[in-house]
Amino acid sequence: MSLIAARDLSKTYRMGETEVEALKQVNVEIETSSFVSFVGPSGSGKTTLLNLMGCLDKPTSGVLTVDDTDVSKLDTRMAAAFRGRTIGFIFQDFNLMPVLTVYENVAYPLVLVQKTGARERKQRVLDLLDAVGMADQRDKYPYQISGGQKQRVAIARALVTHPKLVLADEPTANLDHKTAYRVIDIMKRIKNELGTTFIFSTHDQKIVGEAEIIYTLEDGELVKGGVK
Ligand SMILES: Nc1ncnc2c1ncn2[C@@H]1O[C@H](COP(=O)(O)OP(=O)(O)O)[C@@H](O)[C@H]1O
Ligand SMILES: [Mg+2]
Repeated sequence: MSLIAARDLSKTYRMGETEVEALKQVNVEIETSSFVSFVGPSGSGKTTLLNLMGCLDKPTSGVLTVDDTDVSKLDTRMAAAFRGRTIGFIFQDFNLMPVLTVYENVAYPLVLVQKTGARERKQRVLDLLDAVGMADQRDKYPYQISGGQKQRVAIARALVTHPKLVLADEPTANLDHKTAYRVIDIMKRIKNELGTTFIFSTHDQKIVGEAEIIYTLEDGELVKGGVK
């Protein structure tokens, strides 16, 4: 059973008289525990597709199921609850909270959405900080660490609720090449350890080679893709 199935998935943005077809009849299936990348130039529809998969936006037409749920049918509140249970997010600009320490940033999603006890919470946060190599930096604030370190903290934060799916929209766009590879490698290792499905987008042809399954988007169309 696929974790994600898109059938003829389309998204058109309307702004007054203007229409932009950001996604055109995309068909794709993604299995549980895969490491997938969507590559394509700026404007090809990567963010639009990841936003639909993350239930942050709704398709104009077509069907999209995530974890057996038809996500186009969820209202705003149900979508928020579904996201909290099922999906972790990693962003291009890290999105850490500046007033929280590294430790507090990772703990935050648990405080927000889940009823985890204090002891369990601490264990999860420390285990994940360990997994991304940031345990010794846990009392620092975001301004005191590098971009690569911020993204490692963001990976830990995305995983703390034990989501089935992690969506990362251009997670390496603000990192140098060496750091970018390190970040992707950490995601791949965690995928192998926990069985979490990772989907990341990139416009960088070198980084995309790290994925196990690569799909290429061009002008909103899936032009090629599949297992390497
Ligand atoms: N909120 C929006 N309103 C109108 N047009 C949009 C919006 N978001 C994206 N687009 C357009 O949709 C197309 C795909 O954009 P996007 O999904 O952001 O691509 P990518 O992430 O690959 O750069 C582009 O032409 C973009 O200008
Ligand atoms: Mg984008």
